Amino acid sequence: MLTTKARVRERLIDGIKVQVYDDAKELISNAAMQLSALLKEKPSATIGLATGGTFVDFYTHVAATHKEDGYSFGAAKSVNLDEYVGLNWEDPQSYHRYMLENFFSKVDIRKENAFVPNGNAEDIHAEAAAYDRRIQDLGGVDLQYLGVGVNGHIGFNEPHTPFDSRTHVVDLTGSTREANSRFFIARDVPKRAITKGIGTILEAKKIIVLAMGSSKAQIIKDMFEVGMTTRIPITALKMHPDVTLMLDKDAAALLTDL
Ligand code: GLP
Repeated sequence: MLTTKARVRERLIDGIKVQVYDDAKELISNAAMQLSALLKEKPSATIGLATGGTFVDFYTHVAATHKEDGYSFGAAKSVNLDEYVGLNWEDPQSYHRYMLENFFSKVDIRKENAFVPNGNAEDIHAEAAAYDRRIQDLGGVDLQYLGVGVNGHIGFNEPHTPFDSRTHVVDLTGSTREANSRFFIARDVPKRAITKGIGTILEAKKIIVLAMGSSKAQIIKDMFEVGMTTRIPITALKMHPDVTLMLDKDAAALLTDL
């Protein structure tokens, strides 16, 4: 019987390994395979986790396959990228709740080893500094997963954030609040967030970025039409030695030579 193998095209652009997947399921399973390989080799690894619509299928896949695949989160640590300021942990739109529902409650990671910035801290700036220190104390991030905003943000690092920034508090731009308003039915998107800085993100040993859907096509094209510019935060990844950008066909639609 003939089987059709999903196609993956790959090219190094500006030092970033860019992969385009015909099949989004294959993209998710390859992204998960990197996590599986890391935790089999180093069960106590620290993983940097992301949120957003893009990662829902990723977490579902990892939660459903990790046992059979033969690895565990029992000794692993995780440090999430970001959180809205002022949302209660129980709030359905908080990233705490997102992580609990989509991932932490479905795998064997220990609660005390799964970190998300506290957007409700009394002193939010002190929380940011402490979060950055915690990442250092954990020995840094072995593998950081990232999504990308339609304006090129990574984490919640909006355009013009310095590339050496540490975990900090940000004012969200109109475009980000608009893009995320799809999750906030009949209420306002928070105006501020706490996020790992670009400098903090760049210290991860390995970075995997997922971008899916046509809404990301323009920013993916834009990021390769310039060098490195704080106007497009994701271009900072060009200075990192080990970045893989996994795209589905729609997100890659405006990359002409792939
Ligand atoms: C949010 C998050 C980012 C995420 C981006 C893309 O603003 N802070 O970390 O990468 O949105 O989200 P989505 O996957 O929903 O498009």
